[in-house]
Amino acid sequence: MIICVCKRVSDKAIRERASQPACALRDLRRELCVGTQCGKCLPDALQILREQQPKKLRSAVSRVA
Ligand code: FES
Repeated sequence: MIICVCKRVSDKAIRERASQPACALRDLRRELCVGTQCGKCLPDALQILREQQPKKLRSAVSRVA
């Protein structure tokens, strides 16, 4: 499914990149151009990014935040 219509980026492409260590939204923007035009796809891209991050990392981030 296409998540970013403007740049034609699929959920699969986002998932693949987001599953790599230390991936942040800025990496998706820089490398895949997700959200660099209208920005409507950013909430969905962020949701996929969060789903791909290991639970351990998420809990560490929530402790810091
Ligand atoms: S849908 Fe992603 S920038 Fe427009």
